[in-house]
Formats: sequence, structure tokens, C-alpha cells
Amino acid sequence: MQKFIIIAIDGPAASGKSTLAKYLADKLGFLYVDTGAMYRAITYYALEKNIENDEDAVVEAAKNINLTLQYSNGLTRVFIDGKEVTDNIRTPKVNSKVSDISRIKDVRVELVKLQQKFGENNNLVVEGRDTTTVVFPNADLKIFLTANAKERAKRRYLEFKEKGVEISLDEVEKSLLNRDTIDSSRKVSPLTKAKDAIEVDTTNLTIQEEVNRILNIVEKIINK
Ligand code: DC
Repeated sequence: MQKFIIIAIDGPAASGKSTLAKYLADKLGFLYVDTGAMYRAITYYALEKNIENDEDAVVEAAKNINLTLQYSNGLTRVFIDGKEVTDNIRTPKVNSKVSDISRIKDVRVELVKLQQKFGENNNLVVEGRDTTTVVFPNADLKIFLTANAKERAKRRYLEFKEKGVEISLDEVEKSLLNRDTIDSSRKVSPLTKAKDAIEVDTTNLTIQEEVNRILNIVEKIINK
């Protein structure tokens, strides 16, 4: 059986996971999987259908949702039932609800199944909160990214500003810290550093420095 290479990256919101993951995937020609986009999509769907507070209905939706991810030119495009929701899943409203939806155990069971399927036929760079601990505990390389909260809030705030979303830096920081607390303290698959993950603090690193550091490690693994 062919063995595919899996690089898994976890870390808190806005720690730089997506930027690093996309860069590595492009450089290595691997498939990029943004698991956060999947939790965001189910959250958006639940909000649209007004079922976000009905756990059973959300689980049912997770079982039946027709969710596709298409990655090209640095952008993960997300579709539900063929309708594009790429921008809709990255709003402050979805941000404020996604941690609540993603702590529902059976929602996670469904999405983890989908994520593991990607790894059956592809070399992967996959990122999220539990990809190094639960989804791919045997990944070839596990990275845990961190950055201090002020820096992470600044990064997310600039992203919103670029898209023309009206929100203050203070609000972004509060929402981010709230998400950190829920994501790290939930019972099911909390955000935590896997024992054998390499921790990289990106607060004072440029993306190029970060990528170079990690590419060095990846090359050693691939050429092993
Ligand atoms: O990476 P992100 O900010 O797009 O993720 C959005 C939310 O999805 C995050 O607050 C927690 C949840 N998530 C998760 O629980 N498990 C994952 N593997 C990825 C994301």
C-alpha cells in the first residue's frame, strides 16, 4: 500500500496556521485541508437554518451536509450543496458561534471521518485544533504554532479591515480570547500540544523565517 505523507499543524486562532499550511502545501505539491473551514461551514449552515441551539439538529446536519472544499491559488473555496459559502463562513457572527458548535462530540465525529478520508489518497498538509492529536495522531510531522494574543488579534483585525468588515481591535481580541478558552477547555478533542509536536512561536517571525525553519524539517522527513 502506498504511504502518503501527512503534515499536521495545530494552534490557536490566528496563530498563522493557514498561512504556513498553504505555503507548505504549495511548495510541496500536497493537498491542503483547512479543518476550521469545515467547522465554520456547519456553523454557518446552522445559523442560516436557525438550528444553532438545537444540538440534535446540528448533528443531523453534520451527518447529511454536502460539504466540498476546493483549494486553488491560495484560497480554500467552500461549498454547501453546490452553493459557494467561502466568504459567509468568515464573519464575526460565525466566529462567535463556531466554538460552541465545534464542541459537540457527534459533529466532530462526522467531520473527523471526512478529514481522515482526505489522507487515504493524498499527501496532506492539514491544519486545525486536533489534527495532531485526534485526526492524524500518526502524522509524519506535527507542528504546534503559537503567537501571543495581541499579535494574533492584530493579524485577524487586519484581515477583517482588508475585507471591509467593521470591527474594533478590542472586539477582535475579546472574541479571539473567548474562542481560545472554549477551544482549549472543551471536553472533546481540546486544543492541546501533542507530545511529539514541534512548537513554533510565530510572534516575532516573518512568514519566510517560519516557512524556512519548517521546510528544513520537512525535507529531512521526506528524504528519510
Ligand atoms: O482555524 P479556524 O479559526 O478557522 O477555526 C474555527 C473554529 O473551528 C475554532 O475556533 C475551533 C474549531 N475547530 C476545531 O474545533 N477543530 C479543528 N480541527 C479546527 C477548528
